[in-house]
Amino acid sequence: MHKALAQRLQQQTDAGLWREHRLRASAQDKKVTYGGKALLNFNNNDYLGLSNHPEVKQAFMQAAQVYGVGSGSANTLSGYTQAHEDLVNALAAWLQRDKVLLFSSGYIANLAILTTLMQPQDVIFADKLNHASLNDGMRFSGAKFKRFAHNNMQRLANDLSKYPEENKWIVTEGVFSMEGDAADLPQLANLAQQHQAQLIVDDVHGLGVLGATGAGSLEVHGLSQKDVPILMGGFGKSFGTQGAFVAGSKVFIDALMQFARPYLFTTAMAPALAAATTQSIAIIREDNKRREHLQNIIHYFREQAGNLGLQLLPSSTAIQPIVYNSIEEVQRISEALYNNGILVSCIRYPTVPKDSPRLRISLNANHDYKDIDILLTTLEKISHEQTACATEDSC
Ligand SMILES: Cc1ncc(COP(=O)(O)O)c(C=O)c1O
Repeated sequence: MHKALAQRLQQQTDAGLWREHRLRASAQDKKVTYGGKALLNFNNNDYLGLSNHPEVKQAFMQAAQVYGVGSGSANTLSGYTQAHEDLVNALAAWLQRDKVLLFSSGYIANLAILTTLMQPQDVIFADKLNHASLNDGMRFSGAKFKRFAHNNMQRLANDLSKYPEENKWIVTEGVFSMEGDAADLPQLANLAQQHQAQLIVDDVHGLGVLGATGAGSLEVHGLSQKDVPILMGGFGKSFGTQGAFVAGSKVFIDALMQFARPYLFTTAMAPALAAATTQSIAIIREDNKRREHLQNIIHYFREQAGNLGLQLLPSSTAIQPIVYNSIEEVQRISEALYNNGILVSCIRYPTVPKDSPRLRISLNANHDYKDIDILLTTLEKISHEQTACATEDSC
């Protein structure tokens, strides 16, 4: 047993897939500190820069004074507080959903949806690039599943038509976490309606940053609860906090609350996190300037990167990946960026397919144009150095 694990660990190292903890010594912000070194940060999901926002921190501290730090129990025992209920009400009003349930993480929320609502005789249709939590939930559900090629609506339509009698569920992300591109939600909603399937959208990366009030991918397309019966979102990205929610009809949410083991058998999210998240929502709804600035920064980044001939994926969101040929190449570039004072992480299998390791550049509302210039000129300098190394054998 021990020997088998040791072998697997060695294979992990040999394949360049070993993961490390790097110890951050500062708040998650545009500048971060590691081992006394200050770095320009393009490495987090805090797209609106709220994680270190004074009002969000203030809300957290005030609630901790009232409720203490840990929730101390499960949601349906004594873990749930007025701070949780305030957050639920704020979400339901903003997103125009009948009911909302909170979870301690997005991973857990997705497991809850898929393992509770799906029955073994149901069929799940899922985008091939969906997040691991959706894939795991799908497998644990015991239901039949078909994965369609990324955003391929024709393929999905064909697959759906093969199961006329079954209960069907379509599962997608709103904005794909490692690509930054968007699902074709209007078309998915049409197909769901045509084939009497239920559409589930994980909009962890769209909420906060997309839509006139930041209500995400569904707001962009004006999709209602009828079009998308189950909406899942997480607070660890644009909200700058932690935890997650599922929103939908009374029946779906009641079923999750009564039957979802990942809801019932875990400690409730900390009340202070709930209060901080409610404050984040107020900022997201009122402060359109953050979203606008982020859009301007994204546009500028893509324009300048294009001028330098960098091959970007078709993403108009804060997630701007650059795909490389090998893990070694991405690691070399990520390390060289680090040595030049810039933090961008290297994303490898199993987070992305084996043949497309990448730098995942993550932009946020606290970045300015100068930060983008620094990132791109450094990337260009490093790429030239690496090409010179490879051709002249002089490094
Ligand atoms: C699309 C998507 N869904 C779910 C999750 C899980 O959320 P959490 O980090 O809150 O567990 C993540 C990221 O972590 C994600 O990118």
